[in-house]
Amino acid sequence: MSKLTVGVIGAGSISEQHLNSYERNERVKLNAICDLDEDRAQRKAKKYGIKKVYTNYHDLLADSKIDAVSICTWNNTHAEIAIAALKAGKHVLVEKPLCQTVEQALEVEQTVKETGKLLQVGFVRRYANNTGIIKKFLDAGELGDIYYAKATCLRRLGNPGGWFSDKTRSGGGPLIDLGVHVIDICWYLMGRPKVKSVSGNTYAKLGNRSNVQNLSFYKSADYNLHNDVEDLASALIRFENGASLMVDVSFTLHAKKDEISVKIFGDKGGAELEPELAIVTEKHNTIINVQPQVDSLTFDFVQAFQSEIDHFVGCCLSGEQPISPVADGVEVMKMLCAVYESAEKGCEIQF
Ligand SMILES: NC(=O)c1ccc[n+]([C@@H]2O[C@H](COP(=O)([O-])OP(=O)(O)OC[C@H]3O[C@@H](n4cnc5c(N)ncnc54)[C@H](O)[C@@H]3O)[C@@H](O)[C@H]2O)c1
Repeated sequence: MSKLTVGVIGAGSISEQHLNSYERNERVKLNAICDLDEDRAQRKAKKYGIKKVYTNYHDLLADSKIDAVSICTWNNTHAEIAIAALKAGKHVLVEKPLCQTVEQALEVEQTVKETGKLLQVGFVRRYANNTGIIKKFLDAGELGDIYYAKATCLRRLGNPGGWFSDKTRSGGGPLIDLGVHVIDICWYLMGRPKVKSVSGNTYAKLGNRSNVQNLSFYKSADYNLHNDVEDLASALIRFENGASLMVDVSFTLHAKKDEISVKIFGDKGGAELEPELAIVTEKHNTIINVQPQVDSLTFDFVQAFQSEIDHFVGCCLSGEQPISPVADGVEVMKMLCAVYESAEKGCEIQF
């Protein structure tokens, strides 16, 4: 059996999902890990029995034994590392978002074309079982044409601090961090229509609310109080086929509770991916709510990451194209950047 030799760049929180999933894939040899923080990289190397530890990703990329890399670093480094990795002859799985700007995204796409290497964007929700279930109904035409989607991912207290709230390193707040997931999954299920216009709003009213006591929340590996990102973003995205997508996402908001919902509506039926898998349709003049009988009705983090990594490994070894290719990373960057641009200019952005 041919094996894929893999290196992981960035040894923080999300690398754990990549490393666990690679470890469980018998076609993978985990060979190297890299982080600016040497102790962090060493700890992960010990845990996963990885031989080579680097603090400079260029050194990892110079290792000719490595076939593919996962990029699990801050958003501001994704484009630079992806381009260097592709040029060094490696296949690339890059965490979401693909990068921070459309220009960077196009540069990454161009490098994929020039090198002939594979790049998969870590749109992990595409790899969830529940997404696969809805996709089967969609592909069979049972929901008809999807003309509207609505996505919400509201944290009332959940600014992770550290690099997440440092615009230079993240590129933005909840929109680029959480919005990227829900915008992508709606767009993917809608059949990836071409974006026509975007109208967005961002607000930085509440700050990181680090003053709040008696309620804990997720903090990034290198938590600090610096915060110059939005705490709420909302947008209306119109597509060339007439379909539209409404989205709102927050790091902090005076909401009664956290909320996640992802819904798509077609002319024959609708579907809810979150908060719980459901399909809505009409039969014999009666509206039917269908609840699939499956292990998990909501997003299963571990399953989705395993499936994402297995897909990446399979594509690298077979030469097949991933279901989340670089071109989709570019389109999603167009939407995200247009929301920020629209919010800044106070007008709709037309494509
Ligand atoms: N798919 C998901 O659901 C999901 C969830 C969380 C994070 N992410 C993405 O994963 C990436 C990392 O997020 P995280 O939560 O693991 O952050 P983190 O802060 O826990 O880890 C990031 C690590 O990258 C290292 N790093 C930064 N620049 C580097 C460089 N040039 N070379 C080597 N190491 C470098 C940092 O030292 C840090 O250890 C982000 O792009 C984030 O958007 C995705």
